[in-house]
Amino acid sequence: MNSSRIKKNLHIPNVAIIGLGLIGCSWVKALKLAGCAGSISGFDRNLDSMQQALQVGLIEDYSLDITDVVRDADFIIISVPILAVGDVLEQIKDSLTDTVILTDVGSVKGNVSKDVSKILGEKFDRFVLGHPIAGSELSGVSAADENLFKHHKIILTPEQRTCERALDLVTDAWELTGGVVELMSVQHHDEVLAATSHLPHLLAYSLVDTLANSHENKDIFNYAAGGFRDFTRIASSSPIMWRDIFVGNKDEVLKALDLFTADLQQLREVVANEDKTQMMGTFTRAKAARDHFTKILARRAYVESMTSQTVNYIAKPGGKLSGEFRVPGDKSISHRSIMLGSLAEGTTEVTGFLEGEDSLATLQSFRDMGVVIEGPHRGRVTVHGVGLHGLKMPPNALYLGNSGTSMRLLSGLMAAQKFDVEMTGDESLSKRPMSRVADPLRKMGAVIESADNGRPPLRIKGGQPLKGIHYELPMASAQVKSCLLLAGLYAEGETTVIEPAPTRDHTERMLKGFGYPVEVDGPKVTVRPGGKLTATKIDVPSDISSAAFFMVAATIAKDSDITLQHVGINPTRIGVINILRLMGANIEMLNEREVGGEPVADLRIRSAQLKGIQIPEDQVPLAIDEFPSIFIAASCAEGTTVLTGAEELRVKESDRIQAMVDGLQILGVDAQGTEDGAIIKGFGSEGFFNGGEVDSVDDHRIAMSFTIASLRANASIVVKDCANVATSFPGFVELASGCGIQVSVEK
Ligand code: S3P
Repeated sequence: MNSSRIKKNLHIPNVAIIGLGLIGCSWVKALKLAGCAGSISGFDRNLDSMQQALQVGLIEDYSLDITDVVRDADFIIISVPILAVGDVLEQIKDSLTDTVILTDVGSVKGNVSKDVSKILGEKFDRFVLGHPIAGSELSGVSAADENLFKHHKIILTPEQRTCERALDLVTDAWELTGGVVELMSVQHHDEVLAATSHLPHLLAYSLVDTLANSHENKDIFNYAAGGFRDFTRIASSSPIMWRDIFVGNKDEVLKALDLFTADLQQLREVVANEDKTQMMGTFTRAKAARDHFTKILARRAYVESMTSQTVNYIAKPGGKLSGEFRVPGDKSISHRSIMLGSLAEGTTEVTGFLEGEDSLATLQSFRDMGVVIEGPHRGRVTVHGVGLHGLKMPPNALYLGNSGTSMRLLSGLMAAQKFDVEMTGDESLSKRPMSRVADPLRKMGAVIESADNGRPPLRIKGGQPLKGIHYELPMASAQVKSCLLLAGLYAEGETTVIEPAPTRDHTERMLKGFGYPVEVDGPKVTVRPGGKLTATKIDVPSDISSAAFFMVAATIAKDSDITLQHVGINPTRIGVINILRLMGANIEMLNEREVGGEPVADLRIRSAQLKGIQIPEDQVPLAIDEFPSIFIAASCAEGTTVLTGAEELRVKESDRIQAMVDGLQILGVDAQGTEDGAIIKGFGSEGFFNGGEVDSVDDHRIAMSFTIASLRANASIVVKDCANVATSFPGFVELASGCGIQVSVEK
């Protein structure tokens, strides 16, 4: 809803409330406290309720004759059990003024819509069907709570006939009591509510009834503090109200119930057969879904206003870094561990998995495709592989959030499956180019539809036979390379990808680790179909891309000395170390070793005065994700740093050249963007960043880069919109502040 439209001074002279239950009473109480309602008249079948409402000041008057209550009303709220709405309308239809607006609050909309048509006429345009998604197992006047709707969704289901004036008034009346109005069709509302509200109530009633009738019922209720209590709270709800809901929404409830009954029957078999893997499948999927939901709820409860969910970082100037610590697991390797673990035969154990939103998006996608995945729990994930041909059609579109790697790598895999798939993402991912994967996949025989300009969502048609391809990559991209190699596992003949410059080779290494033959010959990588992946153990090293922020931080902050443990130093990823060393950084690689096919070391970094350089172009693909932090290093250097050959930076999670140059200029740095890079004049050993407010443009790496700039700033730096740091670096603020960066979060 457009809040600018809200009449802040809404005043409805005469309100009539029919049915003095929890929802109706709470709404009029809130309207009254918000100063929106003049006089409120009430009607209820129950005289006691009317007297009580009058006594507590909820209504100004009542009548035993319902028509008295509505005759002068400007706004009528019908808050009676669903099946009684028709009766109420019959009784009041001849007493309505020509301008009165009506609404209801019931949990089913289809049958109320029919009642309105039948009794008030097909064209009656002043009845707005509504349903607040709020309530409790309590009922009656005494339970009225003016805060019941605060931050709760209020669904309105206007129909074609509904007039704008009526919709506006009902919207305002809800929003002014703290509700968040959403519009939906009647049919969709009834479908959604059948699953999310009606079915759970039916199950709660049924379970309590079953257990109460059993022989051991005394014991059950004696020991009912745990699961029983949590699961059955809603069985105390009003039986009449729920009887009506099940009659009113019979068809949709039966559909949801049938689906559930089939799944429950299956779960029965699984328990009877002690099928532990399937149990883990159901339970881990359910837990992930429920945890996700809990987080959404927590976030909603945490913030005062639904519009203020932004996370800003405030970084105070100065500080030095010290300590020995480990940054989270490598994002690229984490993605691949789930993908290849899922396609393998057997159970793959992953440790050090990055519990960031991007890799979790990949994990969830494979769960959606039927793979049983346990965890993550402190970086441990167990993937019960289904083999190359064992994925199942997901029930919905795969939602990949902010993660380009998930979408691009999955494209190759999905193009080879028997089922159709749609892949979507957040606002940033929806703007990123996907033709780079779709075009070569189409050459292999894939059928892929995209939005305009090859952007997501992607719709990939299943059951298409793929042919191998010999493809020269037009850009240095590990994502495109990996996508084609994954498609190549299923394609007829040989798939060869030729890179214009070396890019990260985690896919090739990990395929080999899973026992799948991959031929690497200089820039050429070849796979053939017919092999299989065998489950293995994967120890994910710390992400050099996350370590980069601390490498730069410890370099630019005077008197710093840190050691970053267990960092992946794959030669295709160490561009940042090479570039910083060329600029004069003091980075030592200690204790070099190999874990699971990937080289790893501890990195000791001490402060150093940097000098500006021309960044060698051959290092660009090897440092592609680290340029935002390298730009911060360049700003502190003595002399000018010039970056060329990095046009790919313009199509990352944001246009990183623009985002960094804009922010640097705000902080007083002489920085200029070019088509394929940037020119940054460093302020040298005596200089500083100015304080200021910079925009991360929702890009995690931009956010973290400007945060570390504070170490060499002369005033605080506020970095806006940092929520996406969670995509790659959960716990960044805690780790950063633990080692000496003075950053805090403002929500
Ligand atoms: C990635 C490859 C790189 C990198 C991205 C992760 C990967 O993208 O920027 O963060 O895991 O394969 P491109 O291959 O598009 O350069």
